[in-house]
Amino acid sequence: MTIIAAIDENNAIGNDNQLLWHLPLDLKRFKSLTQNHVVVMGRKTFDSLGCPLPNRLNIVISSNADYKVPENVLLFNSLSEALESALSKDSNPYIIGGGTIYRQAFEYADTLEITLVHTRIEMTDTYFPKIDFSKWNKIFEEFHPKNNKHLYDFRFITYQKKI
Ligand SMILES: NC(=O)c1ccc[n+]([C@@H]2O[C@H](COP(=O)([O-])OP(=O)(O)OC[C@H]3O[C@@H](n4cnc5c(N)ncnc54)[C@H](OP(=O)(O)O)[C@@H]3O)[C@@H](O)[C@H]2O)c1
Repeated sequence: MTIIAAIDENNAIGNDNQLLWHLPLDLKRFKSLTQNHVVVMGRKTFDSLGCPLPNRLNIVISSNADYKVPENVLLFNSLSEALESALSKDSNPYIIGGGTIYRQAFEYADTLEITLVHTRIEMTDTYFPKIDFSKWNKIFEEFHPKNNKHLYDFRFITYQKKI
């Protein structure tokens, strides 16, 4: 399975249940990579989205069995049940966050789709796990300079786990 995340140079990914930036090209890449796949996320990330991501089966993890999700969204009370369901429906499901889910799912991922945003945001409360680069091969990298629609330089990087 694949973990997809946008991180800053301190591995920060969020603050106050919000993203830290608006990068249209990153959103476009997120959409095109995850389109027609299963996406797995924590309850807080689902809350922050406000509605299910279209054209993807949304799987949400919460310890609250009574948490209400729309009809077309699957809710599981444990990571293992969520991942088992995701893998039964898609050979390459995407883990889309947030911090607690990235940490728990990290060991099961064989691919990381990272958007590295070249900044260190001041106010942050949620982080991506530290990547042990000795365990991952970089197989793709693409730099994008800041412009009038993108406040920061950023790069797309794909890592594949070494076998
Ligand atoms: N930059 C990025 O790429 C990116 C991507 C996604 C999210 N984010 C940001 O990340 C932040 C949210 O991340 P977060 O770490 O606070 O929350 P989260 O991982 O999205 O969700 C945490 C919640 O998931 C449930 N959960 C987690 N592990 C569980 C388990 N093993 N069993 C049962 N339920 C479990 C719990 O829900 P209950 O409390 O309901 O039990 C927990 O409170 C936001 O700021 C968001 O914008 C950033």
